[in-house]
Amino acid sequence: MTWPYKISSMTSKTNQELRDEANSDRLGFWANQAHQLSWHKPFTKTLDWSNPPFAKWFEDGQINASYNCLDRHVLAGLGDKPAILFEGEPGDTQTYTYSELLEQTKKAANALLDLGIRSGDRVAIYMPMIPETLIAILAVARIGAVHSVVFGGFSADSLRSRINDAQAKLVITADGGFRKGKAHPLKEAVDHALQDNSCPSIEHVLVVQRTNTAVAMEDKDIWWHDALAKAEPEHEAIGFDSEHPLFILYTSGTTGKPKGILHTTGGYLTGASYTHRTVFDLKSDTDVYWCTADVGWITGHSYVVYGPLANGVTQVIYEGTPDSPNFERWWEIIEKFKVSIFYTAPTAIRTFMKVGRAVVDGHDLSSLRILGSVGEPINPEAWEWYHKVVGGSRCEIVDTWWQTETGSIMISPVPHTMQTKPGSAQRALPGITVGIVDENGSPVINSSEGSEAGYLTIDEPWPSMLKGIWGDPERFVETYWSRFPGKYFAGDGARFDEDGDIWLLGRIDDVIKVSGHRLSTAEIESALVEHHWVAEAAVVGAQDEITEQAVVAFVILRQDELGDAPDEEEIGKVLRGWVSEKIGAIARPRQIMVVSELPKTRSGKIMRRLLKDVAEGRPVGDTTTLADSSVMNSINDKLHSSTND
Ligand code: WTA
Repeated sequence: MTWPYKISSMTSKTNQELRDEANSDRLGFWANQAHQLSWHKPFTKTLDWSNPPFAKWFEDGQINASYNCLDRHVLAGLGDKPAILFEGEPGDTQTYTYSELLEQTKKAANALLDLGIRSGDRVAIYMPMIPETLIAILAVARIGAVHSVVFGGFSADSLRSRINDAQAKLVITADGGFRKGKAHPLKEAVDHALQDNSCPSIEHVLVVQRTNTAVAMEDKDIWWHDALAKAEPEHEAIGFDSEHPLFILYTSGTTGKPKGILHTTGGYLTGASYTHRTVFDLKSDTDVYWCTADVGWITGHSYVVYGPLANGVTQVIYEGTPDSPNFERWWEIIEKFKVSIFYTAPTAIRTFMKVGRAVVDGHDLSSLRILGSVGEPINPEAWEWYHKVVGGSRCEIVDTWWQTETGSIMISPVPHTMQTKPGSAQRALPGITVGIVDENGSPVINSSEGSEAGYLTIDEPWPSMLKGIWGDPERFVETYWSRFPGKYFAGDGARFDEDGDIWLLGRIDDVIKVSGHRLSTAEIESALVEHHWVAEAAVVGAQDEITEQAVVAFVILRQDELGDAPDEEEIGKVLRGWVSEKIGAIARPRQIMVVSELPKTRSGKIMRRLLKDVAEGRPVGDTTTLADSSVMNSINDKLHSSTND
């Protein structure tokens, strides 16, 4: 086993040195990053790209992700270092050292083995933000099983479809989690998802006791604490092939059905740990790191679980929402734990801007040194506020662009090495090659005045790249690699400015971002038309001051199904609730507009651009390609008589 590791030397190279190294020998650079991990069997081949876009990274090496996040730190004498500083929403706290986290993970791994889970089996995880969630993830990875974490805010229906797509054998859940002062039921949603044998692959449900909510426990249901109490304490982690599947994470694309993005072990862990230590300038053994993302999203996977733990940092985990019991909460936590690196989403910053700086100003935030932003473009005003009010004009801000598919940060400033710019994510990280191309795939012309807007591509394979869509290799090739042959097409628009820095311009497809959460308009439309009142639906992401985008739906109703003819307000209410139930509260439309027709081209394609104009209160753009141009007039007239927030 190789043994190269020392946290304090992790970022001893300057950014320029890293960049030079990556430019002169890209694969050698990535091999060096991978060597910062501990391999059960060292790799000799860095990349096999003989069958693009199916990459194999560090193919002949063997590695265990859980070992890298836990055992090696304990073996290096860091066992007593706090790994997790947990703060529950009701105010309960708990600290786990690396030794304690390892001890629990070993027991959980044995408990999974006792339940018949083996390498390659899929395990769904539907949990609140509590330490057991990280333990569950690390235990699944430790035995070579594949986790599929489903965000706790998704509905039972969404959970069911994800379980069935991955054919999961086990669900790990909790009785509930605390959110906004209430126990949010999770086990109940699992029961609902599994009822009438609708997930036949599931053999057991493991239930963590968190809220002490009464739950129905049937034969297949087992309490986590009972299973761990019975489990053997020792578990030796074995190495798995570098390309062994680590996890599936479902994300929204342009079609109605979420895609199971597949990440594998060695390359993913290399990308997550390298970017975590580089982008956040991790050099001090005294850093206290806090990423506010839920583990149900990719940011939680890479920058709550794998990146930080592989790098052996101390991190804060907070269960609840930023406003519970009031808007002081986050800033109290930063003050209390002396957080030095803080990573959150622009939507949160905008919410606090609206609430006012007093809630921040009342706290000593002098421990902060690096502030990160992720999930959507950060507007310059929010950037400035973050810098001034939260960072005391002292902290570096890293605006990090990446995706579920990229596995780790691709574009971001690197602290202390460049002049940051409010609103621009600036440069690809050392080792990453990106480009901006026009409609035809030619690079946009980048002059002293910058460039036109184009499509963002990633031009060379990178270690934490997705390795496929679960069960659908063709969709993987088609979605990401066919628009601009040989390049990964990200789905985002971008342009260069006069200094050659990159500005992200948002999605160019039907993916929308609501409070940083990724949703697809097609997915919400499918949910709407499943309701018997709805004949047709069109959904757009309308600009929103706080959440960046908000869901606005236009529906045509089936008059014959309406029965007692409820009024439009009632219809709006029912359909908004319906979408929450089908997908989750995050997808709930801000507004439902009942219309008699939708604007379509002569070939029958809905012109969402025009609906977006209406939803954002702008004069409607060019309607000449519509089959019937009067449609927009009637929709516009309608708008002024209906709102249902
Ligand atoms: C958007 C989240 C601008 C982008 C990590 C991308 C951003 C999508 C930024 C992926 C940023 C993420 N600036 N846009 N710093 N970060 N995005 O898969 O549109 O939930 O394609 O991953 O979020 O969303 P996902």
